Amino acid sequence: MKVLLIGSGGREHALAWKIAQSPKLTALYAAPGNPGIAEEATIVVLDVDNQQSVVDFCQRTAIDFVVVGPEAPLVAGLADALRAAGIAVFGPSAAAAQLEGSKGFTKDLCAKYGIPTGAYKRFTEAAAAKAYVREQGAPIVIKADGLAAGKGVTVAMTLEEALAAIDECFAGAFGSAGAEVVVEAYLDGEEASFFCLCDGKNALPLASAQDHKRVGDGDTGPNTGGMGAYSPAPVMTPEMVERTMKEIIEPTMRGMAESGYPFAGVFFAGLMITRNGPELIEYNVRFGDPECQVLMMRMKSDLLPLLYAAATGTLGEMSIEWRDDAALTVVMASRGYPGAYDKNTPITALPGESATTKVFHAGTAVKDDQLVATGGRVLNVTAMGESVSKAKDAAYEALRSVSWENGFYRRDIGWRAVARETA
Ligand code: AMP
Ligand code: GLY
Repeated sequence: MKVLLIGSGGREHALAWKIAQSPKLTALYAAPGNPGIAEEATIVVLDVDNQQSVVDFCQRTAIDFVVVGPEAPLVAGLADALRAAGIAVFGPSAAAAQLEGSKGFTKDLCAKYGIPTGAYKRFTEAAAAKAYVREQGAPIVIKADGLAAGKGVTVAMTLEEALAAIDECFAGAFGSAGAEVVVEAYLDGEEASFFCLCDGKNALPLASAQDHKRVGDGDTGPNTGGMGAYSPAPVMTPEMVERTMKEIIEPTMRGMAESGYPFAGVFFAGLMITRNGPELIEYNVRFGDPECQVLMMRMKSDLLPLLYAAATGTLGEMSIEWRDDAALTVVMASRGYPGAYDKNTPITALPGESATTKVFHAGTAVKDDQLVATGGRVLNVTAMGESVSKAKDAAYEALRSVSWENGFYRRDIGWRAVARETA
């Protein structure tokens, strides 16, 4: 099978690394790619925002299957354009990608199908939103409706913060994503990311992970795309997984199909495990980054036929095997991230790799034969171990061999699981 992978982050490096191990693969291409992905795939110069040029490349190169990593091209309809041209693609249609692209869409689906989630209201002007917030009181959560690169959410612990967040959204802080605001009840509990493949009518659970969204140790500072992750997440006990499938994933799959938007791809359910059980915070329609990196380390099965089955409606015949070991990844980011940071800072050494240690590239490039950091999140130092504690020790040990002066990282990735293991 000839495969084209779309994307350039740590998530796509992990997907490329795993797909490249498939006996079914004959050639792997990637666009835009990065230096890590280039070790696994032929990088293609392609404007991935130009759907016609992606379709043309696939036809010219006889690509059998396209795997789309990030959400933006899915929300823009890349999967539709490829399917219309008769090319198999992993990733939902634009209509189904609204699950991530519009928080209001997802909330309405939850209401219609009884999916547990925080009570909410949608607003298109500030005065009504503020009146509702005053009535509800804090803590309360304010969200820009559209895609805001993970930055459109304010968990307001006070009324003042909530009112300021409403003003900020309507003042255009998140562009058109903030033209509508969702005000949501605060959910108290422990977060987990849950992943599940879906072909429109069959769902196949993958595994759980826990992300670390805040930039600083002890979960302090501003939200980021994710500073580290591990899998499995102990809070996702077999009972919680079963309830999540029954109360959240299956009704979503049914609801999407009944609404005329069958979902094929990966459900990434952001969950809060509350006193009442799993509640949905949000859906994403792609793998998590950096959660994907730890899932790929743990997956024993061949990934490629699983993704192809999700794309072609044959997931019902598939099963997945996992390694028992835990995996943990530490994100190294450019100093200043998630704010402004210097670009093109040199990375002069990386750790050696083994069967249980792997460095995935995110925002890197090669300039004048030198590996440099070009993005906010730059490297994902990943390791396996018999427990999360052991995986953590191995990842931080490997990280000592990275030479990159402008890099920083959190020192406490995995702390919740480690606390459980050492209790
Ligand atoms: P999101 O962009 O929707 O993933 O939200 C970013 C983060 O805000 C989530 O990972 C949670 O930590 C937090 N969050 C979002 N919604 C809620 C909620 N209803 N209650 C508590 N925390 C929330
Ligand atoms: N790590 C969270 C995300 O990919 O959205």
